[in-house]
Amino acid sequence: MNNFMNISELIFKLGGTGSVSKLLNTNPSTVSNWKKNNKIPKSYMNELDILLKERNLITFTENEDDKSITPIRKNSKFSILVIISGGVSCYKILELIRLYYKNDFDIEVVLTKSAQKFITPLIVTSLINKKCFTELFSSEENENMNHINLARNKNLILIAPCTANFIAKMTHGIADDLALNIILASNSKIFIAPSMNPYMWENKATQDNLETLKKRGVVLINPNSGLMACGENGTGRLPEINEIFSFTTNYLLKKDVKKCIGFQSQLKILITAGPTQEKIDPIRYVSNNSSGKQGYALAEEFLKLGAHVTLISGPTNINKPNVNKFIEVLSAEEMLSQVENNIDCDIFISSAAVCDWKLIPYTLKNKKLSNNDKLKKNKDIFFKLETNPDIIKSVSKNKKRPRLVIGFAAETKNLIQNAKKKLKEKQLDMIIANLIEKENAIFGEEFNKIFIIDKQCNIQESEKLTKKEIANLIISKTLKLHEETYAKNYNRKSISI
Ligand code: C5P
Repeated sequence: MNNFMNISELIFKLGGTGSVSKLLNTNPSTVSNWKKNNKIPKSYMNELDILLKERNLITFTENEDDKSITPIRKNSKFSILVIISGGVSCYKILELIRLYYKNDFDIEVVLTKSAQKFITPLIVTSLINKKCFTELFSSEENENMNHINLARNKNLILIAPCTANFIAKMTHGIADDLALNIILASNSKIFIAPSMNPYMWENKATQDNLETLKKRGVVLINPNSGLMACGENGTGRLPEINEIFSFTTNYLLKKDVKKCIGFQSQLKILITAGPTQEKIDPIRYVSNNSSGKQGYALAEEFLKLGAHVTLISGPTNINKPNVNKFIEVLSAEEMLSQVENNIDCDIFISSAAVCDWKLIPYTLKNKKLSNNDKLKKNKDIFFKLETNPDIIKSVSKNKKRPRLVIGFAAETKNLIQNAKKKLKEKQLDMIIANLIEKENAIFGEEFNKIFIIDKQCNIQESEKLTKKEIANLIISKTLKLHEETYAKNYNRKSISI
C-alpha cells in the first residue's frame, strides 16, 4: 500500500478513529487496535486504499529509484482560513474548501455555532483531513490559544457565507466566539462573501456596516441577485463557488506577481506554444496535433496577473490572446530565432510541441532536392531526416539564460522516467509531464492532467482539470520556485500579504 505514513498518521488523516470506523463499518476499538499494533488487516487494505485515493492522499512509487509522487497540495504556498457563519448557503462552502484543498492551499476552517446547525465539523474534517475549529475555550492544552494561533500567518481570511449578524458584530468589534476573536486578533487580509435575505441586505444598518468594513480594508465579494432559499427574489445570494474561488486565488497570485515586479521592473515571461510546421515543399509539411491551448492559457493567466508576456506560437486555430507581444512562426528554426530575439526574460516556458525532425527530399542518386518547387509523384524520391534544433536546450545553455527554464514532456509510456531524463538532459528547472493516452488525449482537448517534476525530482500530481486551471497550477508552482530560488533578492517588507 502507501509508504508515507504510519497507521496512526493514516487514521488521523482520514479524520480520526471515529470517522475511520464509520467509513469502514467497524468498531472504534478495532481501529484503536490497528493504531496500537501499527498494522491493518489485509481484508481492509483495498477499502482503505480507495478512501485514501478519494482524498488524494495516496502516494505511490513508479520505479525503484523514483521518489514518491505526492498530491499537489503538499508544500502548499498559500494559507487560507475559512470562517463559515450560519446561513442556509453553508453547505455550498464545503465545495469551496474542497477546491482550495485540491488546489494546493493550506486551509483551516472555523465553524460558528449557527453554522453547526447546518453542517458539522466532521464533514469539514473529512474534506480537508484536518481538525475543524469551533471553540474559543478548549480543554485540549494546545488549543488554549486557538484564536491567536488561527489568526496568525494567513495569506487570507475568508468569511463565507457572511451573515448580517456577523457583519454587524465585526463592525462593532464584538468578540463573543472563536470566529470573531480571530477577526479582532488578525493581521491578515479579510474577504467577506455575504449571503442573506434581500431585505436584510438592503437594510441601512447592513449597508452602513459594510461601508465601515470596506473603509477598514475588508474586501467585499458582492452577493448575486436571484431567487433566495426563503422564496424571495432580490440581492443576497451567495456568489457562485467558482466566483469566490477565482476572486480569492486571483488576489493571492496577483500579489505574488507583484512581488516579482519589485524584483525587476515587471516579471517578464516568454512562452512558446502550438506545433511547428516543417516544410517539405511549398504545399506539403510535417507537423503534429498540438492545439496550443495549454500555452495560450498560460499566457492569458500570466497576463491577468500583471506579468509582461511574449507568446511565440506555431500555427494554431485558436484565438490569439491579447498578450504584450505575439509572434507567429512556422518552423522550429524560426521559433528558435524568435526565442533568441526575446531571450531577455525572467522565465521561459516551452510548451510548444516542436517537431524533432524535418524531411529533406533526395533523388535516388543522393541529390538533395529544393523545397521551393512542388515535388512530383516520383518513385525516385526518398526522404532523409534532419534533426531540428532543440530550442529549450539552447536556451538553458545560453549565456543569457532566463532565471527559470521550464519544459513540457508529453509521453505515451514511461512518463516519469522520460520526463526526468529530459529535465536532466535539457538542464531545466521544472518539467510538466503529461501522459498521452485515450483517456487523456490532451492535444486539442479542454482538459489536462499533469505531473510537475522539479530539479530535486519531487513529483507532484494534479487531478484532471481544465487547461486554465492547469495553467494556474503551473503558475503557482513557477512563482513558488522563483521565490524560493531568488528569495534573497526580494524586499520582504513590501511584499508581505
Ligand atoms: O519533444 P520533447 O518531448 O523532447 O519536448 C520536451 C521539451 O523540449 C518541451 O518543452 C519542448 O517544447 C522542448 N523542445 C524544444 N525543441 C525541440 C524539441 C522539444 O524546445 N526541438
